[in-house]
Amino acid sequence: MKSDVELIADKRNGLVLDPNDIKRFVVDYAAGKIPDYQMSAMAMAIYFRGLISEELGPWTEAMLHSGRIIDLSHIKTMKVDKHSTGGVGDKISLPLAPLVAACGVPVPMISGRGLGHTGGTLDKLESIPGFRTDLDVDRFINLVETIGVGLIGQTADVCPADKKLYALRDVTATVESIPLISSSIMSKKLAEGIDALVLDVKVGSGAFMKTLDDARDLAQTMVGIGESMGKRTVALLTDMNQPLGRMIGNALEVGESIDVLKGRGPDDVRELTLALAEVMLELAGVDPSLAKKRLDDGSGLARFGEIISAQGGDRRVIEDPDRLPKAKQQLVLTASQSGVIESMDTRGIGMAAVLLGAGRLRTDDIIDPSVGIELDVRLGDRVEKDQPLGIIHHNGQGSSTAQTRLQKAIVIGDGASTNRPLVIERIG
Ligand code: URA
Repeated sequence: MKSDVELIADKRNGLVLDPNDIKRFVVDYAAGKIPDYQMSAMAMAIYFRGLISEELGPWTEAMLHSGRIIDLSHIKTMKVDKHSTGGVGDKISLPLAPLVAACGVPVPMISGRGLGHTGGTLDKLESIPGFRTDLDVDRFINLVETIGVGLIGQTADVCPADKKLYALRDVTATVESIPLISSSIMSKKLAEGIDALVLDVKVGSGAFMKTLDDARDLAQTMVGIGESMGKRTVALLTDMNQPLGRMIGNALEVGESIDVLKGRGPDDVRELTLALAEVMLELAGVDPSLAKKRLDDGSGLARFGEIISAQGGDRRVIEDPDRLPKAKQQLVLTASQSGVIESMDTRGIGMAAVLLGAGRLRTDDIIDPSVGIELDVRLGDRVEKDQPLGIIHHNGQGSSTAQTRLQKAIVIGDGASTNRPLVIERIG
């Protein structure tokens, strides 16, 4: 058995570490026996040298076993979840989870909060008056048993090693490492008690991964981890060169999700919801065409209402979206010149929403559920000078800075835009 310093040196020198050494290192870190400065050095060595799949398996397994693994084995049908690597306007979990549950496939979904330019499912759900996401694991299990879906936040006892390591990576410039991102995401997902997982790996100007090659690498790494742990895992690489749907901001996105479950809503949100639902059903051994049927017959919408009630929310928002929080003021965003929408700095658009109060720069920032951006143009659209591009919904905070930022982020020119298909590629 090698010492901690020898293991760090071996990784620094590009050697492959022994699985037992890896497990012990992670377990000892979680138990406080390895100080942060040694884990920082190891994370930096991994950042430069990477981990091969024979190392990533034990690393992820040790992270997974650092806390509670939810046991749903008494539910005999396949349980399937979806994870998105994060984007702008990405509200897909909201229509997707109830829709898949309405097809008879249980969805145990533990989600995160928004940070930086990306939004978070928990913040969106909590914009529904009364909706609680801080439920304990026993109640979560009960929801999955009875309604077929539970939507909660990370609990302290699930993957504590990841919580500690993620905070360390955040301050040691080691977040952007494909093996560390993959093991962090997969350990948390595998702790949910799922049998299969669909990953929505975003690529483009609003995503973690800016290039197709990097996104493919991340997707292949995560699929490899899932499969090595006996869980069917599929990744879809999907476009994030423009926001998803028209709405960015918590309550606005809930309203748009309800629209999609009513058979309306923007085409891209509907398309991606169905694409992900179909793969989830396929992995569960259910006919994928059921997703469209259950969307069209209103079963997905009805299931969303059940979840809202069961988690303490006001389900009347479904019939009466005016019950969702609403910003007091609106500012129309107009085109600064005539031309074609050539590109969007989608991250910049997400940051404009953060300036209004829709998101956080620090984990302890308080968000305003009512504010956000409504964007009425897509890549490739022709616009005339002074034509409205969208509406900034605000409560006085940050509206003019957000307006300037949006004008810069939406690039109008003469050239053609590279408008990619929404679902670019499937891996697994
Ligand atoms: N999301 C996670 O959960 N972990 C990472 O490392 C990056 C994004």
